[in-house]
Amino acid sequence: EKGGYEYFMLKEIVEQPRAVADTLLGRVAVDGTLTLDEMRLAPHELREISKIVIIACGTSYHAGLIAKYAIEHWCRIPCEVEVASEFRYRDPILDRQTLVIAISQSGESMDTLMALRYAREQQSRVLAICNVNGSTIPRESDGVLYTHAGPEVGVAATKTFLTQLVACYLVGLYLAQVRGLKFGDEINTIIGQLARMPEQVDKVLQTVEPVRELARSLADAKTVLFLGRHVGYPVAMEGALKLKELAYMHAEAFAAGELKHGPIALIEDGLPVVVVVPSREGRSVLHDKIVSNIQEIRARGARTIVIAEEGDDSVRPYSDTLIEIPAVPTLLQPIVATVPLQVFACELALAKGNDVDQPRNLAKSVTVE
Ligand code: M6R
Repeated sequence: EKGGYEYFMLKEIVEQPRAVADTLLGRVAVDGTLTLDEMRLAPHELREISKIVIIACGTSYHAGLIAKYAIEHWCRIPCEVEVASEFRYRDPILDRQTLVIAISQSGESMDTLMALRYAREQQSRVLAICNVNGSTIPRESDGVLYTHAGPEVGVAATKTFLTQLVACYLVGLYLAQVRGLKFGDEINTIIGQLARMPEQVDKVLQTVEPVRELARSLADAKTVLFLGRHVGYPVAMEGALKLKELAYMHAEAFAAGELKHGPIALIEDGLPVVVVVPSREGRSVLHDKIVSNIQEIRARGARTIVIAEEGDDSVRPYSDTLIEIPAVPTLLQPIVATVPLQVFACELALAKGNDVDQPRNLAKSVTVE
């Protein structure tokens, strides 16, 4: 059932275009209208929401961080994201107008479950984004949006992460439609672009071979840093998490703007630094700032591994390795930018002889607090 692959993870990475397509299936009409059947939250309830709080752990938390950028931009509803294990211990402010979104692949993470129970006790409505039908978290939520990634066997979340992103975007776009905000041009354009993501992910997969070679050449590195800005920051965090859990290597992500506030002191000769460059569309200021960051770290000896959209020649002179991804709208970029990072971590772990399906000390679902 590994479909000819040595590891489930390799198969699951390749399945991503299909997983993304299945998660969109039946939810996006040709005219751009969204239908989210199991959401079970009536339009009038969605119109009353004054705040959104996203709770999740690990990779699902990273999906939540990305969702915040999209939801706040499209819906103009304040959105907080919190690691589920921290949430209920700080006396968070919740009420009936707060929509809590619990993101969990397995639907069984105890930290997320306890946080959602707490939110329901405070009268908040809870929407689950989950991959496992009938699991505990969706059963205990008011509504659910299932990701249709299919079973994920590898402990590292890959295809379920991409589908969580799709689900988060769908929720954000649906809320924008229901609330009549920005309905029209921007929302419709994004929905059209979202529908095209399966082909874009497919394109990325066809061009990742150089990433494998690069990963193998870094098997002896002691640490890898990841930099990003805007939605590229959580993508960088996800790249670092994958490397830790699969390659047992120290990895850390920074918001690129924070470099000068401390982390730049870490840069030394030969240190591999992966930089996720924002798309140029709509965010050119950030794009230019990150290009200066790349110059700064390279001048201090960093080995720069740059992920940028195709045709972005401004980064070429400062990239030791340039990984090109398709040009897509900024908010959707995480769907394509994450894939090379998954391949990178997986290949590096394999080069070290690690079992990528079953990394040491980890379980697929964490059912203790
Ligand atoms: O099943 P969940 O999405 O609730 O799991 C959350 C985390 O345990 C999970 O994402 C974990 O971080 C993955 N192994 C990351 O690859």
